[in-house]
Amino acid sequence: MLSGKHIILGITGGIAAYKSVTLLRLLVKRGAEVQVVITPSGKEFITPVTLSALSGKPVICDFFTANTGEWHSHVDLGLWADAMVIAPATACTIAKMAHGVADNMLVTTYLSAKAPVFVAPAMDLDMMAHPSTTANISLLRSYGNHIIEPAAGELASHLIGKGRMEEPEEIVRVLDEFFSRPMPLAGKKMLITAGPTYERIDPVRFIGNFSTGKMGYAIADAAAALGAEVTVVSGPVSIKPTQPSVKVIDVESAREMHAKCIELFPGSDIAVMCAAVADYTPANPATTKIKREHSDIPVIELVKNPDIAAALGAIKKPDQKVVGFALETDNEEQNAREKLQRKHLDMIVLNSLRDPKAGFGTDTNKVTLIDCAGNATHFPVKSKQEVAMDIINAIMDL
Ligand code: PMT
Repeated sequence: MLSGKHIILGITGGIAAYKSVTLLRLLVKRGAEVQVVITPSGKEFITPVTLSALSGKPVICDFFTANTGEWHSHVDLGLWADAMVIAPATACTIAKMAHGVADNMLVTTYLSAKAPVFVAPAMDLDMMAHPSTTANISLLRSYGNHIIEPAAGELASHLIGKGRMEEPEEIVRVLDEFFSRPMPLAGKKMLITAGPTYERIDPVRFIGNFSTGKMGYAIADAAAALGAEVTVVSGPVSIKPTQPSVKVIDVESAREMHAKCIELFPGSDIAVMCAAVADYTPANPATTKIKREHSDIPVIELVKNPDIAAALGAIKKPDQKVVGFALETDNEEQNAREKLQRKHLDMIVLNSLRDPKAGFGTDTNKVTLIDCAGNATHFPVKSKQEVAMDIINAIMDL
């Protein structure tokens, strides 16, 4: 599975760097094209000459080649890679990756990488067990990075415990397994709306809602993990997708979201409308701040926003699917069925604010999926990630 894959092998300054030579050999033997990026302290443990001889490429350490001034583009490298493997990953590099400290070529490349990243920590047992290291590793996991747990055994310090970098053969097996996983959505383009919309009243105030984007981004991540090419048109949120391949287009208002969706939908196979879109917007937003002192109590006249889901439902071709959400507070199933029909959707995901662990802001949701034939499937409370998988499975059934 690794044949022809472009792999960045990141090497940092730990005694386990000697194992990276074997890892590099194994990757090259399997037909991967490997670009080594090493930190300055990594070079203290293993020489670039050995690594470039084995990879067949000059080893990159600095932002520039000193004698020619040639710039090594971390952005191009990040785009070139099918995977980035950092082995060994020291506590220092893990901390820099977790907090975006881009002071060397390796961390800068990591921050630019669009490909999946695999991190094989290697350090002494006390460093490994320290709360700051465990917190940093959790952060990397939350960004969607794959952690290849270190093994327990005798360490360079002669102490015995967890911290030995996993063996190169095992790292290669993890990569092999990753690239051979089923990708049932490969080749599918998915458009997802997420988050709230903000409708400006004046330069400092808006009409909005409590959506955090968690549900929509979970669907985006689940679809991307199964191979879909995902674009999220997102209202203002403070979260990011964990899958690096997910493209996010930020918008503010319902009209902006509508315009972007109309532009992108013709090139999409599936649209999932998870955003909580404001139905109304101020007719005449003030251009300067509405002042309390100078006016009577203002009356804000509202006009209807475009219904994005209905607009896509009206223009969809037979090979396109549009999935909507219904957020209800009463008469749930009847309202959801009515929206499914009126907006010409292929499926609707009903969630109700009467369910305590469902809806806005929670890490969980409780949904009922209703297809266009009227069949309803009720699910219990699950994490938004699990709900996302249920929705994706149902979309694949469509
Ligand atoms: O973001 P989280 O905090 O994780 O919360 C998730 C969520 C509660 C926002 C999500 O699960 C959800 O229910 N999203 C839809 C919210 C909503 O606006 O529902 P609605 O019943 O008002 O709208 C019905 C459908 O039409 C939705 O697919 C909506 O995106 C779409 N719509 C609505 C109005 C509009 N002008 N344009 C639209 O496209």
